Amino acid sequence: MSIERTLSIIKPDGVRKKIIGEINKRFEDAGLAIVNAKMMQLSKSDAEGFYAIHKDRSFFNDLVAYMTSGLVMVQILEGENAIQLNRRIMGATNPAEAADGTIRSDFASSIEENVVHGSDGPETAKAEIEYFFG
Ligand code: CMP
Repeated sequence: MSIERTLSIIKPDGVRKKIIGEINKRFEDAGLAIVNAKMMQLSKSDAEGFYAIHKDRSFFNDLVAYMTSGLVMVQILEGENAIQLNRRIMGATNPAEAADGTIRSDFASSIEENVVHGSDGPETAKAEIEYFFG
């Protein structure tokens, strides 16, 4: 295990539900530090670039529309094993499959509107942090 950094996004539905504080408390209670954060309104090209890996998927246009539908909070989380730990705290992408007590199980309304994003591995974390924080 090592100290890692990972990219977290509180998505528009999370911001609209006013659960930024609740989500960040879960990160901090689990031992993750929020070492950078900014509220952003993503442009269409910001969202398309961030999710470029999904550009051929049927849900891509809806995903971009949703991610640009309101403010998001983009953050860097740091801690022991931060990438996997964040994924455990978030739960599975589909809230119907997310473990009890995870953010998506507790707050997400669908596989698309799933409240939070988290990097899925070390290479992605590096690239995603670079994408938003340079
Ligand atoms: P995220 O972890 O941010 O990565 C890609 C996003 O695409 C995912 O969360 C969901 O918001 C969305 N997504 C993934 N699979 C589907 C799907 N089958 N239908 C609709 N949206 C999806």
